[in-house]
Amino acid sequence: MCKLMRLPLIALTSCPAEFWGDVAKDFFWKTKHTGQFLDYNFDVTKGEIYIKCMEGASTNICYNLLDRNVHEKKLADKVAFFWSVCVCVCVCVCVCVCVKKGDRVSIYMPMVVELVVAMLACVRIGAVHSIVFAGFSAESLCERIVDSQCCLLITADGFYRGDKLINLKLLADEALQKCRDKGFPVGRCIMLKHLSKEPEGILGSQSPPVPWNPEVDLCWDALLRGVSDECEPEWCDSEDPLFILYTSGSTGKPKGVLHTVSGYMLYTATTFKVVFDHQPDDVYWCTADIGWITGHSYITYGPLANGATSVLFEGLPTHPDVSRMWEIVDKYNVTKFYTAPTAIRLLMKFGNEPVYKRSSLKVLGTVGEPINPEAWQWYYNVVGEKRCPIVDTFWQTETGGHVLTPLPAATPMKPGSATLPFFGVVPAILNESGEELEGPSEGYLVFKQPWPGVMRTIYGSHERFESTYFKKFPGYYVTGDGCRRDKDGYFWVTGRIDDMLNVSGHLLSTAEVESALVEHEAVAEAAVVGRPHPVKGESLYCFVTLNDGVMYNSELEVELKKQVREKIGAIATPDYIQNAPGLPKTRSGKIMRRLLRKIACDERELGDISTLADSTVVEQLFQNRCCTAV
Ligand code: WT7
Repeated sequence: MCKLMRLPLIALTSCPAEFWGDVAKDFFWKTKHTGQFLDYNFDVTKGEIYIKCMEGASTNICYNLLDRNVHEKKLADKVAFFWSVCVCVCVCVCVCVCVKKGDRVSIYMPMVVELVVAMLACVRIGAVHSIVFAGFSAESLCERIVDSQCCLLITADGFYRGDKLINLKLLADEALQKCRDKGFPVGRCIMLKHLSKEPEGILGSQSPPVPWNPEVDLCWDALLRGVSDECEPEWCDSEDPLFILYTSGSTGKPKGVLHTVSGYMLYTATTFKVVFDHQPDDVYWCTADIGWITGHSYITYGPLANGATSVLFEGLPTHPDVSRMWEIVDKYNVTKFYTAPTAIRLLMKFGNEPVYKRSSLKVLGTVGEPINPEAWQWYYNVVGEKRCPIVDTFWQTETGGHVLTPLPAATPMKPGSATLPFFGVVPAILNESGEELEGPSEGYLVFKQPWPGVMRTIYGSHERFESTYFKKFPGYYVTGDGCRRDKDGYFWVTGRIDDMLNVSGHLLSTAEVESALVEHEAVAEAAVVGRPHPVKGESLYCFVTLNDGVMYNSELEVELKKQVREKIGAIATPDYIQNAPGLPKTRSGKIMRRLLRKIACDERELGDISTLADSTVVEQLFQNRCCTAV
């Protein structure tokens, strides 16, 4: 059994400010806050939505993660990532290229320690990072750079995904060209030599040539040489922006979720400490990519705020073989392990035999989607040998950190349930008319009050922030998830109830994939639905209606698939494409996705189809279903 945490537990729902005020005492503040500890309006009918935590206080998150831990907590010699971090030097580099407080910096890098360095360098000088997952396409990168008006891009020459070489700099250049075409030239691009750096580079002199534009490109290493390794942190207000991270939006246009300095820092530090029962001698490993919120909160910020030692992993769970994860656990004596249901299901397929030597493990975490009980049981019984509590953490890019989660060894677990709210989080379940349901019930999962780490706005569109999260049910933050509460008050998140799909723990909007498809000249209309998938959770099943006179064939199918990958990225690659001469629509012309989901799964029980304009369409689609993935 793990030790229970020693945290001042105060009755929170009654006074979150007191609890968080106590937490804040552990951090460094240049000046004290002037306003209320947590000030907010969650009700659109009463005016603009806002959340402010410790406004008026000034601090620096990089200072709190590094200097505070090194000087005050005497952790200078403690390993942070089994890499050495040289943030201050890098900051000077950023300063060299004229990034100043408040400027946005786009980061497009693989999972290397320099990615953490780049993040911390930005926040040390008060610049706002916008990390774009290195699996996204040039088009997606361009869209994000332009949306947040970034003045600098930090990237790398390339990396390997399994055996596949990804020439990241080529994609970065393509994105920068697209930015120029849109009238938004990005001043500078810093490239880290990851493949080619001698002698550490993974390819050495074998690395592919990288395109170089001396007017824009700067070399990370060359910049580092000869610059000072001292850099005073830029003191920021608690509510200054910290970072932007894009997440899919139901309209198809990604939303730049904005987090601010102090609340996010307190929240990720505390959830990390409590949910993983962090102890000084722990070795923690989160397998997520830093390009997603899980990596931001629980690879970089939460662990470093606690002076934790982490494993930073660049690779795939099944490469070179399916024991890879457990070899690493064994090699570094990992005590706390955090991964996604999709990875668990993938490894589960190969049976118990590859899972070996993992006696160091103490707590196992999961995040990204509802975990099916079979995967939960395997994780608990096989990986954790029935001795490690499982923390099923429900949260979102928008929530900044865990909001529904068990506390290890303290909260009795139920396989598939994220259990109960974290301190200060007040969930509710609403019915379609917005009434709060009591006791066992099922409906919309909402939150009634903010916690320090909740998002503050959508970058560049506060209006969209309010309409997405606060308009449907005034007075509540709407998650977009469905949820059931059982007789013990446990929450069971059932999945998205908007037009969002969850593929391998990543959200994609159906609109986003559909617009990528209709951009192809052969396609007149497209409708995308999720079809359950044993490993990915959901797979993409796409119906396409072609323009008059265009023939459907396998070449077109390949082209459409490529089109989506190029527009969005590999994570959005369609699994099934079906030629749909007609789509089921209501008399008012709305596509009936509910029926398309039935067709995708070959479920003939259609329910009420009285609003369907032409029922022959459905029969035809059933006859031409795709049985095998493309
Ligand atoms: C959506 C948020 C939070 C980091 C990873 C995804 C789903 C996430 C769980 C869980 C059930 C979960 C929800 C949520 N989700 N964790 N433990 N149980 N569902 O971040 O891309 O912002 O996605 O992921 O549907 O809304 P994201």
